[in-house]
Amino acid sequence: MSSKKNSGINIKSYEITDESLYLKRRDFIKAMGLGLALLPQNGKSNAEYYPDRTVLTHGQQISDEVPDWVKQKIYAAHPGIYSTSETPTPYEYVSTYNNFYEFGSGKDDPVANARNFRTDPWSIEIAGDAEITGIFSLEDIVAANDLEERIYRLRCVEAWSMVVPWIGFPLKKLLSRFKPLSRAKYVRFETLYDPSQMPGQRALFKSIDYPYVEGLRIDEAANDLVILAVGLYGKPLPGQNGAPLRLVVPWKYGFKSIKSIVKIEFTNKRPKTTWEVTNPKEYGFYANVNPNVDHPRWSQATERRLPSSLFRSNRIETQMFNGYADQVSYLYRGMDLRRFF
Ligand code: MTE
Repeated sequence: MSSKKNSGINIKSYEITDESLYLKRRDFIKAMGLGLALLPQNGKSNAEYYPDRTVLTHGQQISDEVPDWVKQKIYAAHPGIYSTSETPTPYEYVSTYNNFYEFGSGKDDPVANARNFRTDPWSIEIAGDAEITGIFSLEDIVAANDLEERIYRLRCVEAWSMVVPWIGFPLKKLLSRFKPLSRAKYVRFETLYDPSQMPGQRALFKSIDYPYVEGLRIDEAANDLVILAVGLYGKPLPGQNGAPLRLVVPWKYGFKSIKSIVKIEFTNKRPKTTWEVTNPKEYGFYANVNPNVDHPRWSQATERRLPSSLFRSNRIETQMFNGYADQVSYLYRGMDLRRFF
């Protein structure tokens, strides 16, 4: 991602993280025999239904700091629908190659800086145009729902991608509990603002404004594919991946999938979302994955599927709506997707 703010500063994350160095280090780790990268295979072109597909790794080491109820919910998670048959990106990549500007703008900053991120106790405010509003504990928000594993493609606007086995529950279950009013046309999400824990928020020159904000149209939010995730790979979410609760919207560029959520608000005004505010010419509100609409500075026709290296770039074609067109294209019927990018 890059940000071009009024200060005239134009920072590209790939200028901050030397990606080739990062990937070389990964190759070195592999060469040392410490990890065997799985070769991703190209799956079908659309979201698939694989009820038996699971990578749930129950019983793995989980930090003692994670509350028991979270562990129990995660152990009880079952395979959900709409998982892809594509090979998940190894955990070591999913949990070390991250975008989470609150913890730094380099790809390996979040894993280093989120190590002591405190996520318990955690509360979430439900606000705005809904029948039920208030401040709720994480347990109150999550515990009433059965958790599912959903193996989804994640396509970043920077043209790399992964396949991630998330654990979570459909956002539409939260909508049916809190009952947005008919005038609520959008859902707005906000990340924690806590400069004492998040070095990116106390940096002298910030590349984006905080708190990080994202939003969806209410009918998008009600789509079956959108989940609120609390885990991945059968374990609680690591801090760098957005613990304790994050959004996952698999047909949109990754920046819509906001991390470490503290507020969910129903509103009739389209939210001013972080990347759109930062650089409206380059990042739109919709941010649907679309191989036919290029970013002003690079093509979106293909993507680099991680793991990749200097010698094996692992480039694959990007699919319309990230391969989820069958499930979501009805949301955009009649819309000019070049204009509403
Ligand atoms: N949420 C917050 N609060 N801050 C961020 O910087 N980065 C976004 C998104 N959610 C981001 C965020 C971007 S650009 C991407 S690609 C995904 O998180 C990356 O998720 P991952 O690190 O779990 O792969």
